[in-house]
Amino acid sequence: SNNGIVCRCYYRETHMPTSWHILGAGAIGCLFADALTAQGITTTLVLRDCAASAPLLTLERDGKTYNRQLASTPASAADQISRLLVTTKAYDVVSAIGSVRHRLALGADVVLLVNGLGYADQVAQIAPDITLYSATTTEGVFRRGPWDFCHAGQGVTLVGAMTASAPADWFTPWQNLGLKCRWTESIEPALWHKLAINCAINPLTAIHRCQNGALATRPELAAQVRQLCSEIARVSAAAGFESTANNIEHDAFTVIENTAENRSSMLQDTLADRPTEIDFITGHLVARADQLGVAAPLNSKLLEQIRHA
Ligand code: PAF
Repeated sequence: SNNGIVCRCYYRETHMPTSWHILGAGAIGCLFADALTAQGITTTLVLRDCAASAPLLTLERDGKTYNRQLASTPASAADQISRLLVTTKAYDVVSAIGSVRHRLALGADVVLLVNGLGYADQVAQIAPDITLYSATTTEGVFRRGPWDFCHAGQGVTLVGAMTASAPADWFTPWQNLGLKCRWTESIEPALWHKLAINCAINPLTAIHRCQNGALATRPELAAQVRQLCSEIARVSAAAGFESTANNIEHDAFTVIENTAENRSSMLQDTLADRPTEIDFITGHLVARADQLGVAAPLNSKLLEQIRHA
């Protein structure tokens, strides 16, 4: 029963400090729930919109299909959360954390594994007593049914603290997950680089309803990618992200090639009639460009196009 789950979590939270809650039961959240649970780490999905039951996860990887029983708890429950991995959409981060704020332990570790940038300050405002970490991943996993996912591409997850620091104590078991997780002392440049890649790829694929590969094979789209990248490079240089400034065009075309068959997350959101993360991707870049006095006209144009689509 729900009570059973809640009570067991409370017991574990008190006696086993390595337990995790995951907020955002999408593809990445379920991938981590599976990987953490497989390591014997008590992991509980926090469900916001339905009474908690224990979902049976189906995950396909390397042509094999696995099932795993996951624990869950409703956001509204009362038991404490001391470690929280947030894997929601960018526009849901603040309200999702708000829905469990009453459960967050003083000094709780909260890891934001979310696309885009621009929500961390608001999170720190609504939950000032937490220790905030950020992460970015290249894992490729997509949803096929309510609790049915396919882990299509092995990637790497970079994790770090916003102010550079040695790995957190909770990170040690993350190095032994079936997923590649690496600690970085420079998570901010890594998040910016991912943002830059998303700015170069996602809006164009959503507007032209094309797979990523078309951005290299259709000359008129490739020319737009190059223009986006030159704008992104200027903003990156002004913002102090030298590595992205120097490499963005090369890196964007490499990702396009490596994910040629993929539909970007923004295209998937558009096709499913869901809100997109544009305000936290291109919207964040354009806001930084404005602050820094750097022109980013094509990025601004695509931002408006997606906002009004
Ligand atoms: O958002 C996405 O879909 C991905 O981050 C990327 C890299 C654009 C590949 O599809």
